[in-house]
Amino acid sequence: MNTVVAITGASGIIYGIRLLEELEGEKELIITETAKRILQAETAYTVAEVEELADKVYHQDELFAPMASGSHRFQAMVICPCSESTLAKVSLGIADNLVTRAAAVCIKEHRKLIVVPRETPQSAMMLRNSLRLAENGVVVLPACPGFYPKPGSVEEMVDFVVGKILDQMGQPHELFRRWGE
Ligand SMILES: Cc1cc2nc3c(=O)[nH]c(=O)nc-3n(C[C@H](O)[C@H](O)[C@H](O)COP(=O)(O)O)c2cc1C
Repeated sequence: MNTVVAITGASGIIYGIRLLEELEGEKELIITETAKRILQAETAYTVAEVEELADKVYHQDELFAPMASGSHRFQAMVICPCSESTLAKVSLGIADNLVTRAAAVCIKEHRKLIVVPRETPQSAMMLRNSLRLAENGVVVLPACPGFYPKPGSVEEMVDFVVGKILDQMGQPHELFRRWGE
C-alpha cells in the first residue's frame, strides 16, 4: 500500500508531519516550496528531517515523476495541509505541478483523495471549490480538531485531525479517545 502525501503552503504543517509519522505503508512525499518556508516559520523541523519520514521524495516541479501518470499504482493521496490555492486548482482540474497533477490522477482514476484545508474564514469561492471536490468523490477534511476528547495539549489536537485522516484511510489507530469509549 503506497500513499502519496503532499504538504502544501498552509499553516498547520505539523499536521502533515504527524501524518507522515503515523501513516503505515510506503509514502511518496511532495513538499511545495511555500510549505518548506512555512515549515521553517512554524516548526522546529528541518525540511531534511521531514523528508526522512518518507520512502521517496519528489519536487513539486517533477512532472515526469511516477505519480503524474495514472499507470503508476498508488492507493491514495492526502494533501495535508492543503492550501486554498492548491485546493482551488485541484477543484478546477488545473494540473500545473506534481501535487495538482497527482490529485487530478486520483480523481480521474477514482482513487481516494483526501484534502485537509486550513483557512478561516472561508469565502463563497472557497466553499464552492470544496463543494466541487466533494461532488467528485474527494474527502474534504478541514483541520478542525474536536474538543469532546478533552485535549490537554496542542499535540492532542493535532493528533485528533491526523486520526480522522487515518480513519478515512481505514488504518486503525489510538490517536484520540472516541466518543462513548
Ligand atoms: C506564513 C504563511 C501562512 C499561510 N497560511 C495559509 C493557510 O493557512 N491557508 C491557505 O490556504 N494559504 C495560506 N498561505 C498562502 C499560501 O501559502 C499561498 O497561497 C501559496 O501560493 C500556496 O502554494 P502551494 O499550494 O503551492 O503550496 C500562507 C502563506 C504564508 C506565507
